[in-house]
Amino acid sequence: MLLSILTSLAFACQAPVAPTLVVEGGDGVTSINGVTVSSEFGPIIGEEKAVLTSPPNVPAPIDRNHPTKLIVDLEVLEFIAPIADGVDYTFWTFGGTVPGSFIRTRVGDVVEFNLHNNPSSKMPHNIDLHAVTGPGGGAAASFTAPGHTSQFSFQVTNPGLYVYHCATAPVGMHIANGMYGLILVEPAKGMSPVDKEYYIMQGDFYTEGAYGEAGLQPFSMKKALQEIPDYVLFNGSVGAMVGDKAITAEVGESVRLYVGNGGPNLVSSFHVIGEIFDNLYVEGGSLVNHNVQTTLVPAGGSAIAEFEVEVPGTFIIVDHSIFRTFNKGALGMLKVTGPEDLLVYSGKQDDRIYQPEGGAVQEIPAAEAAKTPTTRTLEERMTLGERSYKVNCLACHQANGEGIKGAFPPLAKSDYLMADTKRAIDVMHKGLSGKITVNGVEYNGVMPKVNMNDDEIASVLTYIRNSWGNDGGKVTLKEVLEAKAAH
Ligand code: CU
Repeated sequence: MLLSILTSLAFACQAPVAPTLVVEGGDGVTSINGVTVSSEFGPIIGEEKAVLTSPPNVPAPIDRNHPTKLIVDLEVLEFIAPIADGVDYTFWTFGGTVPGSFIRTRVGDVVEFNLHNNPSSKMPHNIDLHAVTGPGGGAAASFTAPGHTSQFSFQVTNPGLYVYHCATAPVGMHIANGMYGLILVEPAKGMSPVDKEYYIMQGDFYTEGAYGEAGLQPFSMKKALQEIPDYVLFNGSVGAMVGDKAITAEVGESVRLYVGNGGPNLVSSFHVIGEIFDNLYVEGGSLVNHNVQTTLVPAGGSAIAEFEVEVPGTFIIVDHSIFRTFNKGALGMLKVTGPEDLLVYSGKQDDRIYQPEGGAVQEIPAAEAAKTPTTRTLEERMTLGERSYKVNCLACHQANGEGIKGAFPPLAKSDYLMADTKRAIDVMHKGLSGKITVNGVEYNGVMPKVNMNDDEIASVLTYIRNSWGNDGGKVTLKEVLEAKAAH
């Protein structure tokens, strides 16, 4: 239901026509433009102004048992905002957020839609709602120049979760700049009650600069045509649902996620690490599947996922096309608090020596193991360290210690690394999270505690400190053990 440039231009030249919708009390009779209509969904009673919410929030469930005239006022706003730390992008939005405001309706409602285009906008915009039965999903009727308002009406006839998006040419660019959102049409009996409901929408973004390249980044039509995004995001920016912006629940609560995918290009393999969807409304429709691990959300499509949270912890929300998560930003968090349930999930119960050759191989006592390697030469440490680096560190910090812009700090010529040996050892032992500054650039990520013994830590740090232009120095086992003792 996309609109061609020609159609857009044709409508731009037409005088706006506002249909008049009159609801006449509780007898089920409504007139539109003076023509009387009745509803198969029962009487359309009264009117109300729709409550719109910003992601990750959704409006409260509808408690009406009848359709109404629902007035929606949605404003298009264009502005520059961060897409990642230090990276700005020019977003075009429905309601000032990416994704746009969440709209909640009940089947049979007659929606009077007012699309306002803020006078500060540079572009005309319109809206194609997939919940609309009619040409263009409302696109032609809603084509709106800056400083204008378009009004049109439609009845929501099919329950489900629907995407809306801008359909003004060039359509792909309007969507790529953030012009999409979700409209829920509740069935007549309503949605079943749950404890928490959230709104998550994925989108892919195409910038002139690579992922993390600082400054204001213009939209790249070339990359969009190639369908190679720099960013794949939940709710419009890197980290939009991370840390203190994570969505939350308590152990024992039921959670419902209204999930959408604006595209413009990619389909999403939506997954919550460590959870299973008890109920999954396939493609946002009426078919309910159960016990689903990952669901495919098409561009311009949706899904509703429901599950109970049984144990506390941080549950990572991902597109399981997983490079998008760890390298392009598609990472959100659900933080669950409450008591442990060790039957459902034990956590790590033991860490013991594994002897594939059997018990005949003697276990080296820890004290002895600690004694042997103190004699290692720089050359030995370099060889062992390189091996450990390739296994444990290379994926994030890269082959030449250059790191990944905006995600993983460099180790090559790193002031943070070289300034303090003990701190570097501590990072290996304990991991690192929160803001750090490396060579003047701020990073705010998580490095897990590494799975290396003290000898390996001495070797890998020696290797790192003597590679890629770093100015050297051996890290001894003694230093590693002293740092550990000081914890
Ligand atoms: Cu637009």
